Amino acid sequence: MPIQYDKDTRLFHLSNDRVSYVLQLVETGVPAHVYWGRHVREGQLPELLRRVERNSSSPNPYPEDRSLSYDTLPLEYPAYGTSDFRHPAYQVQLPNGSTITEAVYRTHRIYAGKPQLQGLPATYVEHDGEAHTLELELFDETAGLAITLLYTIFEGHDAVTRSVRFANEGASELKLLRALSLGVDFRSSDYEMLHLAGTWANERQVQRRRLTPGLQSIGSSRGSSSHIHNPFVALVRDGADEDHGDVYGFSFVYSGNFVAQVEVEQYGTARVTMGINPFDFSWLLEPGETFQTPEAVMVYSADGLGGMSRTYHRLYRTRLCRGEFRDKSRPILVNNWEATYFDFNADKIEAIAKAGSELGIELFVLDDGWFGRRNDDTSSLGDWVVDRAKLPGGLEELVDRVRALDMQFGLWFEPEMVSPDSDLYRQHPDWCLHVPDRRRTEGRGQLILDFSRTEVADTVYAMVSDILRSAPITYVKWDMNRNMSEIGSAALPPQRQRETAHRYMLGLYRVLEQLITEFPHILFESCSGGGGRFDPGMLHYMPQTWTSDNTDAVSRLKIQYGTSMVYPISAMGAHVSEIPNHQVHRNASLETRGLVAMSGNFGYELDLTKFTEQEKTIVRAQVEQYKALRPLTQFGDFYRLLSPFEGNEAAWMFVSEDGSEAAAFFFRVLAVPNPPLSWLRLKGLLPEANYVLVGEDRVFGGDHLMYAGLQVPELRGDYQGHMWHFKRV
Ligand code: DGJ
Repeated sequence: MPIQYDKDTRLFHLSNDRVSYVLQLVETGVPAHVYWGRHVREGQLPELLRRVERNSSSPNPYPEDRSLSYDTLPLEYPAYGTSDFRHPAYQVQLPNGSTITEAVYRTHRIYAGKPQLQGLPATYVEHDGEAHTLELELFDETAGLAITLLYTIFEGHDAVTRSVRFANEGASELKLLRALSLGVDFRSSDYEMLHLAGTWANERQVQRRRLTPGLQSIGSSRGSSSHIHNPFVALVRDGADEDHGDVYGFSFVYSGNFVAQVEVEQYGTARVTMGINPFDFSWLLEPGETFQTPEAVMVYSADGLGGMSRTYHRLYRTRLCRGEFRDKSRPILVNNWEATYFDFNADKIEAIAKAGSELGIELFVLDDGWFGRRNDDTSSLGDWVVDRAKLPGGLEELVDRVRALDMQFGLWFEPEMVSPDSDLYRQHPDWCLHVPDRRRTEGRGQLILDFSRTEVADTVYAMVSDILRSAPITYVKWDMNRNMSEIGSAALPPQRQRETAHRYMLGLYRVLEQLITEFPHILFESCSGGGGRFDPGMLHYMPQTWTSDNTDAVSRLKIQYGTSMVYPISAMGAHVSEIPNHQVHRNASLETRGLVAMSGNFGYELDLTKFTEQEKTIVRAQVEQYKALRPLTQFGDFYRLLSPFEGNEAAWMFVSEDGSEAAAFFFRVLAVPNPPLSWLRLKGLLPEANYVLVGEDRVFGGDHLMYAGLQVPELRGDYQGHMWHFKRV
């Protein structure tokens, strides 16, 4: 049984063949954290929880034994106020104003399978045998509050998921001030914290820093997971690297405000907590009500960062993403945004689609500007009615024209927004997030619709779904281009205003669920000014995300490398765009732009009608090559070889699950005078197998490629790349 409970020692052991996660109830009934890491046998587990008497600054809740102190004990879900002085995982205000709780063991349930989290995105199983769950129920008598800690361990993935359910079983109202999804107390702080930070057009840059005493914290209070910090941290044990050593990943399945922090305390331990950002959050829990936190996915890897990433990739690709596109090859697309911006008409669109079709591209995506009177970004969001001035025959006619070219048709929406200059806003000025008597701060000339209100979300859904029903649209890009300010809802009472941001997310998730249920044959891509909401929450509804508004190939090396820490390659939109690049004005060759984009979900975002014959020949070859590589890049295992954060070069590769096919990509950013000879050592191949280099008929041993390496050809000029495609012979 993958979850064992030992009645004598009151110890829970969650395990699969490779990983153990162990917790134990101490005398007071509070669960302590015992161990998490490589699989260990049952026998000596209780001895792993070491207790020593410290000093009087760490009081003892159990006077019979002074070695028991909440301040020094590694805890599973630390509370506030009863002598643990580190940051708690939760805090609740009682009717008497106090904010102290002590929830202790009441009961537990162990079962095969994994429960769904009502209204929230989460990983899932297809058969109960794929995972086992422990529900550990704690109870605070004084508050009448039940706190259920949910743990699921997967059989086939080295992942443990955690979330928490609060239930008010008392007669009075309670207020959650903090309700994080997990706490893990590591017994040492000999780790680096790795996280992904950035900004618009420069998302998910890998950051590493040694843990130091005190709090190291990342998060978002912008109403979305954000460009600035991704909801992910990893602890990398001293000495661990890309391929070796202990790495612990924490990824939060949520798209709104979050916090992820590590606190190193006086005895050198490190507490990781993660969950909804408690800043400007509270939640009233009436008697009989429950509150479910979002899920956090914890991955342990004994094989360094690469092992951690591959676990996240497989788990998220197969048991977080859903729908028919989860397992389907994604189409090569051309998007008109950087080609035309708002300045297009039906003929122009048809011309780009025709050029795309002739080059073998499979899907045309019409971006912003097709509705209302939207000739720039100052109007019309919320008026989801086709602009007949640009498209006189309506969408239907345009879709027909594009489909006649043997291209599928996709459409852009930004449904969560409203322009002050729109009919929707004029009719319903109170439908946006706002606070009475305060300015409504605009971002890109727009306000955010209050998706915490059912009638608002339903009206938007009706407009969007009418359009989707009106024509054979097979792809939707769901954009979201600003962060929240003046967060408040006209529909909530004063004591619930701090619930608005989370209620917004619940409203959004409800709409997305409805959307993918009604339109199972549409491929949805999420976007938030590029990668401002590249998170596991959105991936549960939409299996791919527009990685960044920065389409420059060189910038993308770092952005895509950083994104690959957690997210599967099949989730990353990557397009070839024109030069000089619109974001950084760099001129990378068409070949290099192609190789970088082929390392993600491939597409083009430029005016294909402007290509010369020579460029068309290159693009035709790229499209053909990507079609040959697509099953490998979208469904294979991903290995990082050289980090663009550590030097002038970047490299990565893909290996099919059975090891029979591989593709390696190498990039050098700046030319180096008289450079040393470079070799690239590959990973993940079968050492005993032989591989032919496609197109060259040269055969290499897997051992040769991994241990001796592959010669990097001479590359001339800046921003160069090379790709090798191997097949087992
Ligand atoms: C931001 C997106 O990231 C872009 O790709 C594009 O769709 C624009 N919005 C359109 O306004």
